[in-house]
Amino acid sequence: MLEKIKETAEFLKSKGIINPEAGIVLGTGLGGLTSKINIISEIDYHDIPSFPVSTVDGHAGKLIYGDFGGKKIVAMKGRFHFYEGYSTSQIAFPIRVMKYLGIKWLFLSNAAGGVNPGFRIGDIMIITDHINLLPNPLIGKNDDRIGTRFPDMSEAYDRSLIDRATEIAEKNNIRICKGVYLGTTGPTFETPAEYKYFRTIGADSVGMSTVTEVIVARHIGLPCFAVSIITDLGVEGKIEYTTHEIVQREAEKAENRMTIIMTELISSL
Ligand code: HPA
Repeated sequence: MLEKIKETAEFLKSKGIINPEAGIVLGTGLGGLTSKINIISEIDYHDIPSFPVSTVDGHAGKLIYGDFGGKKIVAMKGRFHFYEGYSTSQIAFPIRVMKYLGIKWLFLSNAAGGVNPGFRIGDIMIITDHINLLPNPLIGKNDDRIGTRFPDMSEAYDRSLIDRATEIAEKNNIRICKGVYLGTTGPTFETPAEYKYFRTIGADSVGMSTVTEVIVARHIGLPCFAVSIITDLGVEGKIEYTTHEIVQREAEKAENRMTIIMTELISSL
């Protein structure tokens, strides 16, 4: 596997993706951040050797390389979800490739349901910890050259990045909240009983992504920073009919605020 990862990283380097400092993974409705990237090159996932290929709607995502917040970054516009039928190791692959391209930090965003009764639709939740209810992507033979067999997860989300992001939000008058993100397989949204259960076991938000990528990133030693945009509420008395379109629409509304936080945070690295 390591050979494949290195081969793909070498291919991307040959296409001019040289020394990115940070990797960014953009969630549902949050791809607009790419309009703030001074793009140097972009490559369709289809054209990248060994990258997972989208099986769902035929339109592949893109890997974007450019300047953002004054730093060279590589961004995944479009991520891979377990519910689409990808294995967790397929979801892991692009994260490992970005590491071998040279990134030192990983930034992620997602759309999520809020199960904390204090949350409002449109809130930005800085993820401080997670609960993984997806299959663990590190199950199987471990390659010690990539990372240790039993990775520590006591600080999956980097505290100093969380502190810095908090200051940036305060300075820009952006309301933020903090909490635990719970990752499920989807693709169903939760029943009221499931939302209640997730709240009971310690979640503040729930979604269908992020935890797999963060586990893989921690395995390989990358500090992570992630945010959830709260697009709907899984709180008793406030649960409404939800669709993917509603999730996208609500995520898009928060995009500018999230982009301010991400730009200033990356610029401060
Ligand atoms: N549940 C799971 N995933 C989600 C939700 C939700 O309520 N909202 C956006 N992604």
